Amino acid sequence: MVSDVGVLGLGKAVPQRILTNKELEMMVDTTNEWILTRTGIKERRIADPNTAASDLGYQAAVNALEKAGVSASEIDYIITATITPDMLFPATACLIQAKLGAANAAAFDLSAGCSGFIYGLEVGNSLVKAGYNRVLVIGVDILSRITDYTDRSTCVLFGDGAGAAVLGPVAKGYGFVASEIGTDGTGGHYLHLPAGGSRKPASLQTVENKEHYLHMSGNEVFKFAVRIMSEATQRVLDKAAILSKEITWFVPHQANIRIINAAAERLGISAERIFVNVDRYGNTSAASVAIALEELVGSGRVNPGDLILLVGFGAGLTWGSLVFRWGGF
Ligand code: ACO
Repeated sequence: MVSDVGVLGLGKAVPQRILTNKELEMMVDTTNEWILTRTGIKERRIADPNTAASDLGYQAAVNALEKAGVSASEIDYIITATITPDMLFPATACLIQAKLGAANAAAFDLSAGCSGFIYGLEVGNSLVKAGYNRVLVIGVDILSRITDYTDRSTCVLFGDGAGAAVLGPVAKGYGFVASEIGTDGTGGHYLHLPAGGSRKPASLQTVENKEHYLHMSGNEVFKFAVRIMSEATQRVLDKAAILSKEITWFVPHQANIRIINAAAERLGISAERIFVNVDRYGNTSAASVAIALEELVGSGRVNPGDLILLVGFGAGLTWGSLVFRWGGF
């Protein structure tokens, strides 16, 4: 048994292809101005047709393992958070296990929408505490595959990407401090993929009805997001007995700058402590918080001892927030 669990290495992978707001203007009835003012997004990355979730997830994992100085054979568990797996089964985590040659790792997928990476960290933390020494948590989504590029209310929001973290025991006083994870399944219909599962298997009808695309009630999700981002943040601060002003960095799910700003305003958090990259990637779902954390640490602005708060929401409806003390790697 170990007492403190933390992040040993971080990695990310994003596709090269950039889809700009200008290009979207030519695809649907929208404007750069509308997208920018309503979402804060300038561009997003789109995977090429031959790239699936396991490919991006694998690349992010390789980068995280390198940073951590951990070899594939040392990994005990692989958790892949995704809502766009390569296929329904085998799990994308199993496909990544094979690509890595991580022969000693158990592997499974986790479906919690955009909260998936934070859920993965929560589960990974418990696994390390239970005695598994090296746990690889990957957040990856290729939402472009389930986005209807004739629907202006959704297609401007999403992008593709992957992020990964290697977890393991860390020096006492560093690592995970507290978490707050939750679900409200009664709101599941606000954000869902109607067909392709056991309820509505694929048929000509489901394809014609565009039921293999993501469907979203934007306004409902927006209201939920603003409320839950601030509530989950406050609850995790209370659990950790930490004041908001003691947090060095806030790393929120990058869905919409208005959601981030509204939550920050409710909590009285100043802009310079909030990491934002939604302008460059849009909403990358399970990869969002992972990529943001990787970029924040990669920017060189995080020092050992800093307190970092991650917070997100997503399909389910789910939410998660987590505080940890950075130990460096
Ligand atoms: N360009 C121009 N006009 C648009 C566009 C667009 N791309 N999209 C919608 N509109 C129009 C609407 O049709 C509507 O027009 P109407 O008044 O004539 O009907 C008008 O703009 C206002 O629409 P609203 O939905 O009220 O716009 P709002 O300011 O709420 O922004 C948005 C919409 C950006 C979708 C917002 O509701 C939002 O961000 N919601 C949360 C989405 C989200 O975070 N999802 C998370 C997914 S998490 C996961 O697990 C994948």
